Amino acid sequence: MSVKIYQGDILYASSAEKLNVFEKSYIVVENGVVEGIYPVIPEKYKDIPVTCYGRKLIIPAFSDLHVHASQYVQRGIGMDCLLSDWLNHYTFPQESQFSDLSYAKNCYDAFVDDMIRHGTFHANIFATIHREATDYLYSRMEEKGLYGFVGKVNMDRNAPDFLRESTEPSLRETKVFLDTHSGSKKVRPILAPRFAPTCSQKLMDGLGALAKKYNCGVHTHLVESRWESQEALRLFPDHRSDAEIYERAGLMDYGPSIFAHVIFPGAEDMRILKKHNSVAVHCPDATTNIVAGIMPLARMHDAGVNIAIGSDIAGGHGIAIYRQIARAVQLSKLKEFYEPDDNRTITITQAFYHATKEAGSVFGKIGSFENGYLFNALVIDSMEDPWMELSAAERLERFCYTGDDRNIKARFIEGQEISL
Ligand code: GUN
Ligand code: FE
Repeated sequence: MSVKIYQGDILYASSAEKLNVFEKSYIVVENGVVEGIYPVIPEKYKDIPVTCYGRKLIIPAFSDLHVHASQYVQRGIGMDCLLSDWLNHYTFPQESQFSDLSYAKNCYDAFVDDMIRHGTFHANIFATIHREATDYLYSRMEEKGLYGFVGKVNMDRNAPDFLRESTEPSLRETKVFLDTHSGSKKVRPILAPRFAPTCSQKLMDGLGALAKKYNCGVHTHLVESRWESQEALRLFPDHRSDAEIYERAGLMDYGPSIFAHVIFPGAEDMRILKKHNSVAVHCPDATTNIVAGIMPLARMHDAGVNIAIGSDIAGGHGIAIYRQIARAVQLSKLKEFYEPDDNRTITITQAFYHATKEAGSVFGKIGSFENGYLFNALVIDSMEDPWMELSAAERLERFCYTGDDRNIKARFIEGQEISL
């Protein structure tokens, strides 16, 4: 049995209301799993060497529940557009280049390395329609020991010729993708119909059949803008809500159902999300860049919908989930100011919880340091000015607002320290 002990200021959120803080404490990790947190080392571990991090913070590594690896190379570009123009002018032409495997490898290698650098070890990822490039991304995630869901994108209408599949080949390629990766554990395939406007009913139904056959979840964009919400119902006229499109196609019954943005959920969307224990992913940067609306996060959380945080590279321009935690707090204030009936300001603890334990739950016992959780962890600089002491909770908040990858001093996956 491998036993390791780390000393530092240990923090994790066990709920949206509870930030657990253990200053100057010891976390015992057995075979990569948290055994306990102690103010003094228990007698039975007294011979185990301790790695001391002093006043540095030890926190769970982050999960990014909505990110387009294929858009890593276009981050920070086209940010003066709204969704439809941004897709047509920037994203679709750029994504079409993933038919070239060497282009894809450069992008995916850089993306995976940057995620690790910024402390995201678990991610739910959109690739592109190209299966071979998506296979490469999948294997790169596995090689680096990360946790993830990876989706080959499907789109068979309302897209330019150079990025549109025919329905049957789209389903066939998806089936090959699922066959290739069945049995994988840490990285798993997920279905990724891009969003309702680019997918026909026949494609949705075909994907629903694959979801059943392969016991597979779904990852897509839901009620992400006024334009998208209207387009979805115009193109699927016998449906009452965007979420019903996925529910009726049988896409929400197997594995997780993960929906990005969810900015304009109607009562019917909310009912369906709750019924299927789905996750709604708040992507603060993308919301202000291309989507132009703010998720009613607190209202949805209070109603019992699971919430996670996403970078949505490249609708979002930054890969760091800790910065999205800060932005989620900022946006909740703006939303409360302009629409006081539709939201309340959230705490940093709540935002941190959504980005760690709540998001991590789709991957397993990940995102907390309660006993039995994997020690997938980050060691963060003390974040203090030398003349002024802060509490551990204040230092975590400062890291989310002002920190960057240089403040991440060590990274662990299943108790093993990883190097960059
Ligand atoms: N909706 C459809 N495609 C996309 C995409 O690539 N990014 C975002 N944010 N929304 C989308
Ligand atoms: Fe997106």
